Amino acid sequence: MAATEQTVDSPDAVNITAGEKLARNTAKGNCTACHRIGTEPATRTATVGPTLADIKSKFPDHQVLVNAIADQGQRQPDTIMPPYRRNRILTESEIELIAQFLETL
Ligand code: HEC
Repeated sequence: MAATEQTVDSPDAVNITAGEKLARNTAKGNCTACHRIGTEPATRTATVGPTLADIKSKFPDHQVLVNAIADQGQRQPDTIMPPYRRNRILTESEIELIAQFLETL
């Protein structure tokens, strides 16, 4: 099918899709090991962290959300959430893509 205005994803949509893949990728964010995402049903392993939903109202400031993903330990010193920035599990741009995805939840 020929690409048209309607079928080409906007840059935002491309970022959001990439961010979701990183969040769910077990070799990358693996966020779903501890978090439920949106309205998906509870699983045995994904209730360690709070459900990732309603993110825009919890994190109206984009940078605060980025930092919460990059280093949750700055908000909650004894957290078990990995320090993704310090451990270099995720690059700065990968953290940014995940933040953009979470903001859609
Ligand atoms: C090993 C478990 C674990 C993993 C993996 C994990 N988290 Fe967390 N996360 C937590 C816990 C636990 C908290 C709650 C803070 C606390 O009390 O430690 C949290 C808190 C958060 C918060 C703040 C939520 C709120 O409502 O305040 C966000 C946002 C978040 N995590 C995003 C992510 C993202 C995005 C990923 C993947 C890149 C991720 N987490 C991976 C355990 C995890």
